[in-house]
Amino acid sequence: METTTKAIKVEKSKTSKIHDVDFDNLSFGSIYTDHMLVCNFVNGSWQTPEVIPYQPLTLEPSAKIFHYGQSIFEGMKAYKDEAGDTWLFRPLENHKRLNKSAKRLAIPELPESYFIDGLITLLQTDSDWIPQTPGSSLYIRPFMLASGTGFHASPADEYKFIIACAPSGSYFSGKVKVLIEEKYSRSANGGVGFAKAGGNYAGQFYPTQLAIEKGYNQVIWTDDNNHEFIEEAGAMNIFIRINNTLITGPTSDRILDGITRKSILDIAKDEGITTEVRKIKVNEVVDAAKDGTLKEMFGAGTAAVISPISTFGHKETDYDLPELSESYAALLKKRITDIQYNRAEDKFGWRFKV
Ligand code: PLP
Ligand code: COI
Repeated sequence: METTTKAIKVEKSKTSKIHDVDFDNLSFGSIYTDHMLVCNFVNGSWQTPEVIPYQPLTLEPSAKIFHYGQSIFEGMKAYKDEAGDTWLFRPLENHKRLNKSAKRLAIPELPESYFIDGLITLLQTDSDWIPQTPGSSLYIRPFMLASGTGFHASPADEYKFIIACAPSGSYFSGKVKVLIEEKYSRSANGGVGFAKAGGNYAGQFYPTQLAIEKGYNQVIWTDDNNHEFIEEAGAMNIFIRINNTLITGPTSDRILDGITRKSILDIAKDEGITTEVRKIKVNEVVDAAKDGTLKEMFGAGTAAVISPISTFGHKETDYDLPELSESYAALLKKRITDIQYNRAEDKFGWRFKV
């Protein structure tokens, strides 16, 4: 695989939309910066990436993305510190996972330098778009899609790798109420649950809509076999605190290997919190809620950071989580965001200066 890029060409946008943006009131992922990175796979190789003005794509109706959903994505953030320097959090992990997803979806893998150099060039070009308002960051969406054409159900011969960015505030507004899913599944053994394939998320929309109609925000995914074990919280990994032990499920074919998840495990250990990576039975959580040993549940992911769950629903009953003045969720969120925003020492070496 080629490992170095030629100089990345930058075509600057003639106008900027930045003055229309209210950086004090950002929603999540709905306003896009002036530029995007595009890299095409043609004639059997990835071409030199280019930064160009943010713009619509032109694709043929026969492009395989439309028919066979051959697409994957990543989610990252860029953080600006008080001095105005820009930081990424473990970006090489995102590149590795992008290629893991690519391989599973029969998409050609992207060299690391195309990803990192392309991203750095894009962030330097759109640096003014990286928010400095508290709690905000630049959400980065790298993705790949099959632009090659044909109705034959086989991998495309052309692809696009694109990075688009959105200055963003928090993913959830307010308390998160979740419903433990007992009918639908997000993923199965041998499937694509461990990959960030676009179709994984499309498949979640309908069951999530049903949960929203019942007054919940998200679905807690359980195993596809018997819906006996807790797996993920929507598009987040899940953590459960019983007494003073913090538990999360093991990654597998079905559970995404979240970068926030593994960072939280390391930080928790560093804080002296007892952690367990093991399968968690739905019944164990329900019993713990009933006997008062269930202290916290929270989702963890790039977009949502750490989102405490206030209530979970199971078989027509709602269980409220206690409101703790000193929660693991708050402690771990502070530790991880202090590293991300360059407010504290980074003893793990996770920060990456742009
Ligand atoms: N689980 C799923 C299904 C996700 O989509 C995400 C989001 O990326 C995560 C977990 C959290 O992963 P990360 O912490 O790498 O963002
Ligand atoms: C992320 O947390 O970055 C994700 O990719 C989840 C996404 C579906 C918002």
